[in-house]
Amino acid sequence: MDSIFGSFGDLVATRPIEHLGCQDLSFGGQLQPPLKVVEDGGASGCGGKIWTAGELLCEYILEKSPGNELLGASLPKGGHISKVLELGSGTGVVGLCVSLLAQQHHLSTDTHISITDIGGLVPLMQSNIDVNDVNGNTNATELLWGEPLFKEYRDIDLVLAADCVYLEEAFPLLERTLLDLTDQEDSQPIVLMAYRRRRKADRKFFQRIKHNFDVIEVSDFSRHSQYLKLRTHLFQLVRTHVHKQ
Ligand SMILES: C[S@@+](CC[C@H](N)C(=O)[O-])C[C@H]1O[C@@H](n2cnc3c(N)ncnc32)[C@H](O)[C@@H]1O
Repeated sequence: MDSIFGSFGDLVATRPIEHLGCQDLSFGGQLQPPLKVVEDGGASGCGGKIWTAGELLCEYILEKSPGNELLGASLPKGGHISKVLELGSGTGVVGLCVSLLAQQHHLSTDTHISITDIGGLVPLMQSNIDVNDVNGNTNATELLWGEPLFKEYRDIDLVLAADCVYLEEAFPLLERTLLDLTDQEDSQPIVLMAYRRRRKADRKFFQRIKHNFDVIEVSDFSRHSQYLKLRTHLFQLVRTHVHKQ
């Protein structure tokens, strides 16, 4: 069978090559050392550059992680995050921001981050792990939406996704993966999804997932209104019904 990327590749508009090279991102001095992100301008797929929704999610996580607890400012009391999974990571920007933050907070031994995407992006994600020297707590792997999940992804504390809602054919696949990641009745992961609105059809994704998730707009962060002008939103998805299969 053709892989989904074989059949969908030509549906993704070709982007001009831009964002080539390595960016140094400290997010206003919050990350020291700054995050380094190698971009290939889209040569290995649309994820080969940093997207606005990815920047939003990094900023949110940094703002909500004062002291030395990851997302400490928005976690329920006593909550703690040790396993993080990013879907559709592209360059890995969001997951790597978490990796560096964990290192900065001396939480590296306790926090594990998996950055995932289609196979073609694994080498770029791995370069970005190497260039930030976070091999100790971060790994890059292929995770194709809609495919059965590996066992190690069954008890995740935090699921991150930035700019993953853009290809209508992939909506049921992304939904399937989100359902699989949240199908336990106790200890649900926190699911944060940054989303840039582009097409009316995106609405269909949110209509679909509303059968099983509350989609809560998150607005309590500094640059919320600036991101709204870029049609970029942050949602928390909270699973409402768990149907064991
Ligand atoms: C617009 S990019 C966003 C990249 C990154 N999250 C960011 O914000 O910079 C969307 C990402 O989703 C990935 N993606 C699309 N369909 C996928 C699928 N079916 N399974 C896994 N990843 C997929 C793409 O390869 C791409 O890296």
